[in-house]
Amino acid sequence: MIQWTSRLEVGHALIDLDHYRLVRDTNCLVGYLVDGIARSRDDAAIALALGRLIQDTKAHFMAEERLMEGLLYSEATAHKSAHRHLIRSIEALRLDIGSGRRVPDSHAICFVENWLLDHILTTDRKLSAFLNSRPSQREPDA
Ligand SMILES: [Fe+2]
Ligand SMILES: [Fe+2]
Repeated sequence: MIQWTSRLEVGHALIDLDHYRLVRDTNCLVGYLVDGIARSRDDAAIALALGRLIQDTKAHFMAEERLMEGLLYSEATAHKSAHRHLIRSIEALRLDIGSGRRVPDSHAICFVENWLLDHILTTDRKLSAFLNSRPSQREPDA
């Protein structure tokens, strides 16, 4: 399970809220995967949780890409291509599990827990720093 702590916050309210929800989706999926190893596997629940994680991640990636749109952000192309790569890797896991080629195991759990974290901690943190550095985007002082 991923603990949501300030370590995962990137400092942009909309992005952080999405990430919080994605961590929740991830933990839900991990819960089913752990149950599947410890007791009996619920393939339908795993497929549903994996589908929701992928759907919510796609929506989040689109939201981040909209935030970059029209701005002179030098990392935009690399950031978008990182999104495509992440979606491909989780889709591949879904295909393998769905087709029975792969049994959800501790490696799958480890993958699911980590596939987005590195992106959040590096690529998204850079994007947030850029967005927050733009004067018009600064939130008024409380
Ligand atoms: Fe991103
Ligand atoms: Fe993100």
